[in-house]
Amino acid sequence: MINISDLFLWPMKKLARKLGAEYILLKQDLDFSSAMRFALDEFKKSCHAKYPLRQLINKYIRNLAKQNLQGNEYIARVYDIEYVDILDLGQLINEQRGGGILSEFSKFKGKCHYGFLNALLVWNGLTLISGYTRNELKKKEICDVGSGSGELEEHLLSLGVTGTHLHSVDVSRASIERQKRLGINVYEGTIGILPATLRFDIIFLSYFIDYDNNQLATFASAIEHANRGAKIILEGRLPARFLVGQSDQQASNTVTRGRFAFEDARLISQAFDNLAHKVSRTAKLERLVVGSRYVYSHFGFSRLPSYFLVFKVV
Ligand SMILES: C[S@@+](CC[C@H](N)C(=O)[O-])C[C@H]1O[C@@H](n2cnc3c(N)ncnc32)[C@H](O)[C@@H]1O
Repeated sequence: MINISDLFLWPMKKLARKLGAEYILLKQDLDFSSAMRFALDEFKKSCHAKYPLRQLINKYIRNLAKQNLQGNEYIARVYDIEYVDILDLGQLINEQRGGGILSEFSKFKGKCHYGFLNALLVWNGLTLISGYTRNELKKKEICDVGSGSGELEEHLLSLGVTGTHLHSVDVSRASIERQKRLGINVYEGTIGILPATLRFDIIFLSYFIDYDNNQLATFASAIEHANRGAKIILEGRLPARFLVGQSDQQASNTVTRGRFAFEDARLISQAFDNLAHKVSRTAKLERLVVGSRYVYSHFGFSRLPSYFLVFKVV
């Protein structure tokens, strides 16, 4: 039976075919779908319990907006509050309300307000997207840019990847402080902060390119830091430009100016192709994966589009 929503994805499928890339629609994998449903039930429960904190966080963010912070500085501060330990936030609320609320949050010891659930965190999703088995992943040097709350890192550690092989980059200081505790390599800043000599086998560009005011430099840097044969796995919220003005996203995205998700996917792929003249290696789109992700943040609970563009560096 034809599903109407799948018809909208037809241009994406056509784009993948044109670029010689594999196309995967995640919901067609029945094992993956049932694992996602199960994980979603758990995720929803944790979001529900955190809901009372949103008011405090939104108040903090409204105050930040008045401070005229620019670009990454503003985004970093917005995400800082999302990644602070909930018990520390509880302390703040407690002070404001004159006590009594802290016990509600004791079960969240060590956790933060932000949370997400995407395909990488669910059973065979990481293998479907990266093309690597669990054993293969253990041997890879991995870098996650825009790593946020560190949930992907925790998942990779749980699969047996060692902390020394994991590198995490984020502009938010609270993100970096949180992830230091995981015993992995952490870098506060954009991808440009990475030591020039570091090379990786997998680089995740994790759902932040809509915030990025220097997308071409980010893509070039990812290729520069990739070993030959490495994969760059970009997860994007596409089309990115419609988000501008609705939240904190950059009005100055230079690549993702498309009207539709498939246009942005084409523009990103072209941008990687064009970088071949500037960097010593080329990155070819190998796989295009379409799915959804669930996010809990100061916006509340949302189901968002998730497009994985997997590039192979040769
Ligand atoms: C929407 S969150 C994504 C977090 C997590 N990776 C996920 O998949 O849900 C975006 C993250 O990217 C970070 N970020 C935004 N712009 C960045 C940049 N140019 N370089 C590195 N991190 C950035 C933010 O601090 C935030 O932690």
